[in-house]
This record gives sequence, C-alpha cells and structure tokens, in this order.
Amino acid sequence: MGINFRQETFRDDFSFKNSPEQIRRFPFPFHEDGYMYSVNIEPHVPGPKNTVFEHLFDVDEHYISEMQDRAMVLAEDPLRCQSLPHMTLAGWDTLELLMTEKAKSYPDLFSLTRDGDQWHWINRPLGIEDRFTFGDTSTLPYGPLEYITRQSQGDFAVLDQRDGNLWMDAGMVTTQADWSLDFDIGMNFFEWHAPVPLAHELGVFTRALKFLMAMQQGQPARRFNWTMTINPRLDTSPENYHKWGTDRMTVTPENVGHKVHLRVEVQMFFRLPRSNALLFPIRCYLLKMEELVTSPKWARRFHRVLRDLPDELAEYKGLVRYRPTTVEWLSKYDDGQPTSPGF
Ligand code: HEM
Repeated sequence: MGINFRQETFRDDFSFKNSPEQIRRFPFPFHEDGYMYSVNIEPHVPGPKNTVFEHLFDVDEHYISEMQDRAMVLAEDPLRCQSLPHMTLAGWDTLELLMTEKAKSYPDLFSLTRDGDQWHWINRPLGIEDRFTFGDTSTLPYGPLEYITRQSQGDFAVLDQRDGNLWMDAGMVTTQADWSLDFDIGMNFFEWHAPVPLAHELGVFTRALKFLMAMQQGQPARRFNWTMTINPRLDTSPENYHKWGTDRMTVTPENVGHKVHLRVEVQMFFRLPRSNALLFPIRCYLLKMEELVTSPKWARRFHRVLRDLPDELAEYKGLVRYRPTTVEWLSKYDDGQPTSPGF
C-alpha cells in the first residue's frame, strides 16, 4: 500500500499531526508502569507488518515534510552536518546501507542500480535522480553522508572505534533532543554522555560501550529513548534554544492535548563494513497527548510513568515546568486498573 505523505510543518504554525494509522504504529516505549535508565538493547530484526519495525529503516507519512525541515535547518546552520576527514569512508558505508535497504524495503519509492562502481539512484518522493561513482565524492552534490541523510528520516551519528572507545567523528543532527553535534564532535562515549544523571552510577555506560564495541556487521541492534517536546518541533537544539526554550512555559490545562508531545527515539546500531565505524541512527517519532489517549492502555501507563518519574530524570529531560499540568490532564484517563506487563 502506498504512503500518503503529509504536507505539514514542524515550526511556525506547527501543522504536524499523525493520521489514525500512524498513531496505531507509534512505537510506544514503556513495557511497565515506571521508567528508569537501563541497558535496554535488543537485536534490530524486522518486525510485524504495519509497525515501525517492519523494515530496518522506516519511511512514513512524515518523510517529505521531515526532509524539508532538515533542509531548512541546514540552510541556516551548515554545521549540523559534519564529517572529520578520516570519516569519509564511513560516509560511503552509510550511503550504501541506506540506499540498499531503502530500495529493498520500498521498491515503489526508491531504486538503486549498480554496475561496478557506477551507481544510479532514484528517490521518487523527493524527485531526485543521480548517477555517481561510488567512492568518488566529486560525483555527488554533497559528501556521501550528507547526500544520503538529507534523504533519510532521523538523525545519524557516526562513531569511529579506536583506543578502546567510540568517538563521535561525523553526523547529521537536525532533529535532536537538546544536544549539539557541533559541541560533541570529536568527543568519546563517556564525554558526550557526561550530562546524563544516574546512569553512570548504575554502570549503564560501561556495559553499553562494551556491548557496542563488540558488535558485528549484519547484526544490528536497537534501543528506545524518550523525552517530551512542547509543540511538534523537530529541531530542539541548543543552537536554537532561544526559539523553543520558552515554549515550555506556555502549557495550560486547556492546551495540553495538542501542545504536549511524547517524543520517542528509536536508536539503532549498525557496524559498517569498510570503515569498521558504528552507525547510530536516531529516529524521532512525535505523538500529541490527545493522540496518545486514543489508546486507553497507553494513557493509563504514560500517566503513571510521568507521575512517578524520578526528579533527576524529569530535570534532565526538561519536563519540570509542565509535568504537573500534564500529569493532572492525563489522570482523567487513568482508571486505576492494573496494567499488563510487556505490551
Ligand atoms: C543521552 C549519544 C548510545 C544511554 C545521550 C545524549 C547523546 C547520546 C548525544 C545526550 C547527552 C546530553 O545531554 O548532551 C549517544 C550515541 C550513542 C549512544 C552517539 C551511540 C554509540 C547509548 C547507549 C545507551 C545510551 C547504548 C544505553 C544503553 C543514554 C541515556 C541518555 C543518553 C540514558 C539520557 C537520555 C534521556 O534521559 O533523555 N546519548 N548515545 N546511549 N544516552 Fe546515549
């Protein structure tokens, strides 16, 4: 079935919303009535039809509008995409992975023909057709990482692996929850995670790094992260904090339903073949509170998660100002019944 791409905005008039079908496939991340950081990593294997895990890289109704928003961010701030000189090969690895998977998963939308190093790529939704020489950057309008991630939903960090650590040496980051590629570029796994509360003490990062360093090609993994965003804004970056920071003071009992969003990140890990780099796609999904409560079990559970979230996490995620109003609003949808674990 074809995808009905929406025309919508993630800024100014914020016309973004989800269709009923998109709400049903939202990756609700909570498997119990509370939340704490953990090493929640699982194999990234294709999942059931009509879920966001049907394909390794999900393309959905927001594809075109998200790519338009990315182009606007890059026009204002080209440093949202960076690649240190030793990461060019990892950029080609990324381009190959994304092109082959997209063409395989969505043959009606994307096509890739290869004749040795002569490649022919067609992206129908964005109206792009290019012939280029794989490995020769001069044959593409941008570097390989920028070229393909201008056509792929979600952010991408590309990590070099050396000296027993991972280094954030390349990326495309325009839809992030308040962190900056320009600030983090060249940092290692512990350095860029330094601001996160409690997880260091729990040993989460030491164990996670060990797992990631041992990852093999062809065996991708994934995990969930989540936060909340006021208005459906993709670009909640430190660079643009002056544009969105004060939105958090605008939540009232009357506007919670359409202003407050659950922001879920499906984070993936892929070992890349030629460079041995690790690709870390971070795919962001937004859901309005009024969309979330269309599922009674989600409403009940999210009310409890948000109400009982440890203060350190609420502070770090930036929810403190509007948490009480949102919890009060959600409480109308919590009948106090027990929930089933694991859904
Ligand atoms: C937060 C990057 C893997 C757990 C973050 C932040 C960044 C980041 C940039 C924001 C830090 C800030 O406040 O400035 C990455 C990259 C990874 C990776 C590039 C790929 C190698 C992991 C893994 C785990 C993890 C494997 C755990 C198993 C966390 C947690 C947070 C965080 C718990 C706080 C999130 C929140 O509360 O919203 N990560 N991360 N990360 N990361 Fe990672």
